[in-house]
Amino acid sequence: MKVLGISASPRDNSNSDMLLRQVLSGASSAGAEAEYLRLCKFNISPCSACGACYGTGECPIQDDFQVVLPKILAADRLIFATPIFFMSVCAQAKILIDRCQCLWASKYILNRPVVKPRQTQRLAMVIAVGGKKGGKGFDCIRLMMKYYLDTVDMGYFANLFVSNADEAGKIAENTNAMQEAVRLGKELALAAGPVPEKPIDVELIG
Ligand SMILES: Cc1cc2nc3c(=O)[nH]c(=O)nc-3n(C[C@H](O)[C@H](O)[C@H](O)COP(=O)(O)O)c2cc1C
Repeated sequence: MKVLGISASPRDNSNSDMLLRQVLSGASSAGAEAEYLRLCKFNISPCSACGACYGTGECPIQDDFQVVLPKILAADRLIFATPIFFMSVCAQAKILIDRCQCLWASKYILNRPVVKPRQTQRLAMVIAVGGKKGGKGFDCIRLMMKYYLDTVDMGYFANLFVSNADEAGKIAENTNAMQEAVRLGKELALAAGPVPEKPIDVELIG
């Protein structure tokens, strides 16, 4: 069981990153092989909408996306962690998501499978942290991730959303959020059977 954690926050001592590491430790404690990837360390350009992938299923831009994509395709479990920036994912996350348009083209235009058929369903979890108090801060993430995870052929298993956590590292004081992250990591690694109709939704206030 390969678990890939993608951390999209550009800042040090990031709240979403801390939760991601907790989720990965939960998954490892359940026997999974965990890999952690900090997106801002990779050089990934935005999608240029050149359209080449509509004919080939592949992105012609030669940068670190070509390193990250095989990791996404090889993972049995994906954990995508992002801060909320202007009611959405941060730019680093959005660039990666857009570059996966080549998978969308492959799947929906060229009718090719994204990954080889497997015995078990690939599953994903989303972590998002915002500084704002409550509100509809996570609505955009839910919708975007629904379509993104479908594109990368991952069942949408769970969300861990924390609002009212603005200061870097503040999440570490939130024992409940830190423990929930470990629990969800274990649950994600051990999950069997069909994808839940709706993702497990854990929304906490920092
Ligand atoms: C450019 C920018 C935009 C932001 N926009 C929002 C927002 O729309 N909603 C919100 O709840 N927090 C917003 N925040 C606050 C961050 O989501 C918050 O600081 C969060 O803890 C960052 O997570 P991280 O530590 O994992 O990077 C914004 C912060 C920045 C720098």
